[in-house]
Amino acid sequence: MSAWSWASTGMSEVQRHAEIVGWGMYAPERVVTNDDLAQVLDTSDEWIRTRTGIERRHLAVGEATAAMAIAAAREALRVADADPYDLGLVLVATMTPDYPTPSTACLVQYALGAIHAGAIDLNAGCSGFCYALSVANAAILSGEQEMVLVIGAETMSSMVDMDDRATAVLFGDGAGALLLRASDGNAGILSTWLGADGSGGDMLMVPAGGSALPASAETVAGRQHYLTMDGNQVFRFATRIVPRAIEQVVSRAGLELDAVDWIIPHQANTRIVEAAAKRLNMEMSRFYLNLQEYGNTSAASIPIALCEAVRNGSIQPGQHIVLVGFGAGLTWASVLLRWGPSVQEARPIFYRRLWRWLLYRWAAIHRPLRRLSSGAWGRARRLLTRGAPNGQD
Ligand code: UT7
Repeated sequence: MSAWSWASTGMSEVQRHAEIVGWGMYAPERVVTNDDLAQVLDTSDEWIRTRTGIERRHLAVGEATAAMAIAAAREALRVADADPYDLGLVLVATMTPDYPTPSTACLVQYALGAIHAGAIDLNAGCSGFCYALSVANAAILSGEQEMVLVIGAETMSSMVDMDDRATAVLFGDGAGALLLRASDGNAGILSTWLGADGSGGDMLMVPAGGSALPASAETVAGRQHYLTMDGNQVFRFATRIVPRAIEQVVSRAGLELDAVDWIIPHQANTRIVEAAAKRLNMEMSRFYLNLQEYGNTSAASIPIALCEAVRNGSIQPGQHIVLVGFGAGLTWASVLLRWGPSVQEARPIFYRRLWRWLLYRWAAIHRPLRRLSSGAWGRARRLLTRGAPNGQD
């Protein structure tokens, strides 16, 4: 059952859905082409293009994951002309958080001025965005949330060994965001399907930096903080799981594959998508690909592709779209959604735009002010209590 019926006692049953009302993406300015990489690594444009489909990628310089997530999130709020005060939850799918703690979601929540929202990071590798959508969907269908912001954001360049040609050529940085709102229409998320197989955890991992192998001079010297990947095994896993994840999510919604207009896969390798298309007997033209421009941006790849497809008019009202991810864990996840007939970029109302502008400026000065005031209060307190026995007040 994909949709939750919330008015079973009424004359007409109303289906509650999590509908997408806003979208945004961010890619760093700096572009690195295959030829650029070939100048510093033993690789070539020809190898990268033919083995992966990637032509260039965007790499962050002086920007961490939260900064990119905030940019994508603000864009999604602008598109929907939504008030950050109405957000109930901010979910950030990432495996490259700014810090082990606090969560990147908290940094984003604060920068948006979303003072009524909870904030969670979710790590499911490259499947993270679909996992986060599934959590957001459940929160909305249960009636607990009305508006949820879901972001996929990654600074893969901080995790990839730029001297390792097997991984350095594959990844890129960026962020994408979707704003989900409860709706009584028939558009939005229709079904989701999640899966995991932890036995394959070592196929794609960062060995050090966690509690199993905390950071030390030895782990740094041993380059154990970089991503390691058994590319061939992951490739095999992906070609097996992607078609299955697509079929499962479509049948869960009671639909046939023919009803699907677009498939937006995790943008890792064109050959994985070609193999999936062949297994499903589907035309490649129904798969949306933009990995040639961004490379593999892990949890950000699906929202970036979706956002681009909406912006360039590929996605049209009423269409059915499957999002499908796979990656570290191992994990996989798929989401089927119906694009709303009325979903389009909102014409921003002046006072709401001004309100968002004020909130973002306030967030920018609030933290330094808080530090300043707690510092001043601490000094005043010490002055006032000077002379009290043992410094007690
Ligand atoms: O988002 C996370 C999920 N990750 C993925 O989806 C990655 C899945 N795997 C893949 O996409 C592919 O396995 C890769 C693109 C990573 C590798 O492609 P492949 O066709 O499986 O190549 P390979 O690993 O079998 O390597 C073939 C050859 C090797 O040389 P020899 O042993 O045949 O002499 C490699 O050393 O290509 C060599 N090679 C390279 N050559 C030039 C590996 N990387 C490079 C490179 N440039 N960057």
